[in-house]
Amino acid sequence: MNFNILVVDDEKNIREGLGKALELDGYQVVLAKNGIEAISAVHKGDVDLVITDLKMPELSGQELLKKISSAYPTIPVIILTGHGTIENAVQAMRDGAYDFLTKPINLDRLSLLVKRALSNRELILQHRMLQEELKKKSEFANIIGRSEIMKQVFEVVKQVAPTRVSVLVTGESGVGKEMIADAIHYLSPRKDKPYIKIHCAALTETLLESELFGHERGAFTGAIARKRGRFELANKGTIFLDEIGEVNQSVQIKLLRVLQEKRFERVGGEETLEVDVRILSATNRDLKEEIERGNFREDLYYRLNVVNIHIPPLRERKEDIPLMISYFLKEISKENGKKIEGIDVRARDALYSYSWPGNVRELRNSIESAVVMCKGNIITLDDLPPFVRNDSNRDYIKLNTGISLADAEKEIIRFTLQKEGRNKSKTAEVLGIGRKTLHRKIQEYGLD
Ligand SMILES: Nc1ncnc2c1ncn2[C@@H]1O[C@H](COP(=O)(O)OP(=O)(O)OP(=O)(O)O)[C@@H](O)[C@H]1O
Ligand SMILES: [Mg+2]
Repeated sequence: MNFNILVVDDEKNIREGLGKALELDGYQVVLAKNGIEAISAVHKGDVDLVITDLKMPELSGQELLKKISSAYPTIPVIILTGHGTIENAVQAMRDGAYDFLTKPINLDRLSLLVKRALSNRELILQHRMLQEELKKKSEFANIIGRSEIMKQVFEVVKQVAPTRVSVLVTGESGVGKEMIADAIHYLSPRKDKPYIKIHCAALTETLLESELFGHERGAFTGAIARKRGRFELANKGTIFLDEIGEVNQSVQIKLLRVLQEKRFERVGGEETLEVDVRILSATNRDLKEEIERGNFREDLYYRLNVVNIHIPPLRERKEDIPLMISYFLKEISKENGKKIEGIDVRARDALYSYSWPGNVRELRNSIESAVVMCKGNIITLDDLPPFVRNDSNRDYIKLNTGISLADAEKEIIRFTLQKEGRNKSKTAEVLGIGRKTLHRKIQEYGLD
């Protein structure tokens, strides 16, 4: 990134001397001789960092600092103070200065300070950019996914939502199956009709049956009154059967009948009820395997699985991770009343390379704990849960079978870069390739 630095000092020598030094460091420099000139340069935009003297005629450094930190809180301001005026510097820090330097200025220290302030700013800007990207997506507002795989999932959701076909959503725990089922209902013409969810694994066999289909008075001990079941309640709307792999044979038969004939009887009842319900279901089991074992009816499977939406584990769609991090950070820091502006490179790398056996749910929980642990406004490696942090110290990587050679190369380069603290010469040396080649590959794979 190319940064513009604004240097403000009424003393020509200092102003120009600092400007030269910063230009040698590769920055673009704008000079201003007082606070008024400075503020108009900031208003014009394109200023990434301000270095200002405190004592100046007209608009002082203090006033300039206050104006910038209220109107442009992400622009860091470094204060220059004369010898022996440390109280002023302390006050400036309270007013929102990034840091201060005392005159005569040590150029090495300045250089370091500027670099640090700007890397912080870059993180904040990156974070902002991702936030903008988040705003643009409206339809699936709360389901994050920019990977090709997830875009395909969204396409299928859009296609099936307007119909009444049964959809079976499959995937490991925590991949977002329930969110997808919700999206199908809320994008369907039934969106204003009942949406009833039932967690099939949470209930015992008899309870599940009576929950789904209702019961007549006296159908079993404890059935003291007639009760309407979820299918009756869901009439004209949608029912979501979560963990469908857990239901027993007798419920399976009843479900099959509802799917085929839209009819059923309450437990212990004679009357046949007719309903119009759209059925969505989800499972993290391999139902084909359950069929082979004799645990699940094949005919029911085909009725439930008219359309299958499979959501792959997070480790197979890592491109989704950065946007998810930004989204969760924003959401969770708001919930916790914390002002988190970004996440540093090492923490981001660690979150990226972890394998996430608990998928998106686990990622969200990890961000939540990081937000709680974080003391400043940037999440660092130390804020992450130990299993993510330690995993980033490991010296091996796991590659899934079935990926291309290019993807494998990308992961190896990413990992080595991270191991070598992003030092490119060192990385090239370890990988046994030239610096130029490494550079090209970094560009090619978007690893910057
Ligand atoms: N694409 C996504 N975008 C944003 N958040 C997501 C996404 N996928 C999952 N989540 C988050 O992960 C959590 C788990 O999602 P969900 O309950 O839909 O998973 P699931 O596949 O039904 O899991 P389980 O099999 O354990 O029931 C959600 O509460 C949500 O916070
Ligand atoms: Mg679920």
